[in-house]
Amino acid sequence: MPEKRTPIIIGSDHAAYDLKEKVKVFLVERGIDVEDVGSHSEDSVDYPDFGIKVASMVSGGKFERGILLCGTGIGMSMVANKFPHVRAALCTDLFSSIMSRRHNNSNILVLGGRVVGDILAMEIVKAWLETPFEGGRHQRRLEKFDRIDTAMTVS
Ligand code: RB5
Repeated sequence: MPEKRTPIIIGSDHAAYDLKEKVKVFLVERGIDVEDVGSHSEDSVDYPDFGIKVASMVSGGKFERGILLCGTGIGMSMVANKFPHVRAALCTDLFSSIMSRRHNNSNILVLGGRVVGDILAMEIVKAWLETPFEGGRHQRRLEKFDRIDTAMTVS
């Protein structure tokens, strides 16, 4: 589990509503506080609205870690990675989930509800929660992300 059971902010669109609900149960059963920004049903919605809610909170430091879900996970990844300090990782397998933490210090996990089955999704979430960032040369590389954020900031 993450250090100090870091609270998780979570959001999805209609296409991954069902998986979001299951991930929430998985987190709560492990004693993790979950802030759910929606959506709250399978009615059609626009995924950017929910991606923006989660990514802005992680970007601004209100939450250390978040989880986003949509049909493929692609749209949510695109939205989330527009935000400074967000390192969103779309993971469809266990290895990517582990490496996104070890090497990329991913702070948003993205899942595709129409891509991964429930059991694999939970394994991906568990590994993502439990795997620490390795730091070292990877920290140096991530610091180069900050330069992009600075360069892209319009004054
Ligand atoms: C919704 O139909 C779908 O486009 C969305 O969930 C997602 O897959 C977008 O990337």
